[in-house]
Amino acid sequence: MRIVVIGTGYVGLVTGTCLAESGNEVTCVDKDARKIAVLESGRLPIYEPGLLELVQRNRKEDRLHFSTTMSNALEKARIVFICVGTPQGDDGSADLGSVWAVADEIADYLNRGSSRTTPLLIVLKSTVPVGTNRRLQERLSQRTQNRFDVASNPEFLKEGSAVEDFMKPDRVVVGVRTRYAEQTLRDLYAPFLRTERPFLVMTPESAEMTKYVANAMLATKISFINEMANLCERMGADINDVRRGIGHDVRIGFQFLFPGPGWGGSCFPKDVQALIAMARANGMSARIVESVLAVNEAQKRVLGNKIRAFYGDSLKGKTLAVWGLSFKPRTDDIREAPSLVLIEDMLREGVALRVHDPEAMNNVRAIYGDRLIYCDRPYGALEGSDGLVIVTEWQEFRNPDFELMRRLMRQPVIFDGRNLYDPMAVREYGFTYFGIGRIVPEGPASRSSPD
Ligand SMILES: NC(=O)c1ccc[n+]([C@@H]2O[C@H](COP(=O)([O-])OP(=O)(O)OC[C@H]3O[C@@H](n4cnc5c(N)ncnc54)[C@H](O)[C@@H]3O)[C@@H](O)[C@H]2O)c1
Repeated sequence: MRIVVIGTGYVGLVTGTCLAESGNEVTCVDKDARKIAVLESGRLPIYEPGLLELVQRNRKEDRLHFSTTMSNALEKARIVFICVGTPQGDDGSADLGSVWAVADEIADYLNRGSSRTTPLLIVLKSTVPVGTNRRLQERLSQRTQNRFDVASNPEFLKEGSAVEDFMKPDRVVVGVRTRYAEQTLRDLYAPFLRTERPFLVMTPESAEMTKYVANAMLATKISFINEMANLCERMGADINDVRRGIGHDVRIGFQFLFPGPGWGGSCFPKDVQALIAMARANGMSARIVESVLAVNEAQKRVLGNKIRAFYGDSLKGKTLAVWGLSFKPRTDDIREAPSLVLIEDMLREGVALRVHDPEAMNNVRAIYGDRLIYCDRPYGALEGSDGLVIVTEWQEFRNPDFELMRRLMRQPVIFDGRNLYDPMAVREYGFTYFGIGRIVPEGPASRSSPD
């Protein structure tokens, strides 16, 4: 099939590339000329594991193309996916400006009296409030007499494993009103669902809502375990033991129940806000979801509060190393990342920050410039530091050389925002350790310094 994907960000680029990989001819369109130029030069504007190889292969096979304009590509396309951003608006609801801009461009194309034999299927993959597909249908109907169809197809991929998630989805959800739309999408997704993964057909309203409910549920799990971790800390229980104690109950499970410094990213914060706004607009308050958000806002300050409590009045002028800046591992995305809250907080306190992240440094540098010290290597960040703060659980931070760390640091203190280390073991190396909801042995180092 010939396909156009509009919006070549994390979702659009992965969608377009994976659809090309299954034999379709795909044109990815973005209004950001710089992004398209980077892609045309054979590089990626984002970091996503495994994506570069797929992009290069499909470009070489002439199945994947990039453009800043959509009209030529639409001429022969059977499906157009809208994958533009839907950021949070001023009142918390999703800002659909980009969606409508794209819709109007598609209407202009349809109006030019193209010689289509089949209707153009317009698929909304961006996360959009319930009712947006209907509004899209109405908006287009007012602007064109030409044949088209509209469908919802929310995306559930996760940054960091986006290619894998798209290639082997847990499920594909489509919201349709016609057999044509259903069958076209069923055919398109068939290669990805060969191992009996479900293709779930529902109304566009239910499909739109499914995406918000999925994200709200996941955010709820994290905020819940964070709240319980904070309570554990006050009561002398260890959240890691409690987590294991509850997770073996299959009704609860282990996934998404790891405490940390709060959730961030390009989706949860804005989608949770949008769900709250949708509830308000419909005359109810989503009280659980509102609490989930409030708990998270407080959780993003937990590391800063622990740091303040430890250094007290001597915090100003200290140097801290920060490991991990992206909102989660295996991505360069820093949108709403807890690291940004910590950085702001510590800069305000007059702390010097030596930061390291395997992929997100350029994005952070674009915000903070020379207000931070950027270190290419994790150990480099530790040199002369009065403490280490771990914000993101990149794999390479899990098993470091504690002896070397201790030698490099001025003060052996670790604020472990992801509970990567065993408090007892770290203490053996002479570190003072703070986790999230852990039982931490009292007092500083027990083993003498290697020096
Ligand atoms: N990032 C994720 O993990 C993820 C997962 C599932 C769903 N989503 C949803 O998918 C949508 C896209 O998210 P993303 O993270 O890929 O966003 P993104 O910001 O990475 O990419 C959006 C792209 O759309 C382009 N764009 C905006 N207006 C345009 C226009 N008029 N014409 C052409 N291009 C235009 C932008 O230049 C940008 O490159 C959002 O609704 C998001 O909520 C994201």
